[in-house]
Amino acid sequence: MSLRASPPTHIPVLLQETIEALAVQPGGRYIDCTLGAGGHVAAILEHSSPGGQLLGIDADPEAVKIAGERLKAHSGSTLLINENFVNLQAICIKYDFHPVHGILFDLGLSSLQLDSNGRGFSFQHDASLDMRLSPDQEVTAADIVNTFPETELAYLIRTCGEEGYSHQIARHIVQKRPIRTTLQLVRTIEQAIGGRRGKIHPATKTFQALRIAVNRELEHLESALKQAVSLLGFEGKLVVISYHSLEDRIVKQFMHQESKDCICPPGTPTCVCGHTASLRLINKKVITPSLAEVQLNPRSRSAKLRAAERIITYDEQYKTIEKLCFSVKPKDNGWRKPTLLKRLQWAFLTP
Ligand SMILES: C[S@@+](CC[C@H](N)C(=O)[O-])C[C@H]1O[C@@H](n2cnc3c(N)ncnc32)[C@H](O)[C@@H]1O
Repeated sequence: MSLRASPPTHIPVLLQETIEALAVQPGGRYIDCTLGAGGHVAAILEHSSPGGQLLGIDADPEAVKIAGERLKAHSGSTLLINENFVNLQAICIKYDFHPVHGILFDLGLSSLQLDSNGRGFSFQHDASLDMRLSPDQEVTAADIVNTFPETELAYLIRTCGEEGYSHQIARHIVQKRPIRTTLQLVRTIEQAIGGRRGKIHPATKTFQALRIAVNRELEHLESALKQAVSLLGFEGKLVVISYHSLEDRIVKQFMHQESKDCICPPGTPTCVCGHTASLRLINKKVITPSLAEVQLNPRSRSAKLRAAERIITYDEQYKTIEKLCFSVKPKDNGWRKPTLLKRLQWAFLTP
């Protein structure tokens, strides 16, 4: 049965573009840091067959369960882990899953989470103000809304929601506390700044800010991108799909910085940073969905895909070979050579 025959619950965004950017090949090893409903993973498994291996990570236990059901037939080649991608390196070391041919981040929330009635992510359903990806997290959106001082709330709504009316919204929230549900918050925001402005709902930006803060989305992304680079083999691909400008800025700056040999401030007479490039940009221009995709799946409209590939200096290549040669214990029975060869193949991602 084709993997795509499962009933669609979340439509994977920029699917073809993602498979191309990852350059998925038979026998390759891939990590999807944002498993979701398993849409991208299903396509990666199809294209990496035969012999492909996949590690899927999601902070939301519900997502891991749903993806697990969908990918049941592929349990031999997939490892699905309920974890936050901020622990990416530790997860890969624990499961001995590195180096890899490609790593994908499809950030944000799945339609399953947005459409779920009880999670508090959407301002269209009444629910308790939760917004946590995992029930193990301590801080909920209600905690922030009901305990932050007004100035901190305004700062959060301005910086993480890029909301111009942050002060008015924060003042109204503080006056109306305690606020326990999404619709109470929506009404408070509407009282603060009025009804719909243009195409976007007046609560959109405040909800975005709270979700980012509850899940520490920006700091986790920054940390995970650095970890991802160290897990890629030679010419391994890093592909990131983001859905708002704060995420995209982090991805863009990271990839640009990591593709430069020197990151000294402009005008520095000689390089003092000693930085060497670890990535090469694959697409200099950001990739966005076609009009047809947006019409089919309006949630894809803000998507931006950026991709880069790992470059390894001669020095690093030499050190990797040296490390691998000396880490394999010599034995008489002839297994030493193939084991070392396999490890070298993984490090340099030869077929
Ligand atoms: C847009 S969805 C991914 C959809 C998936 N690509 C598909 O096609 O079905 C994003 C997923 O990333 C997960 N997520 C977001 N931040 C995360 C984090 N820091 N660690 C692990 N998972 C995260 C969310 O729980 C959500 O399931």
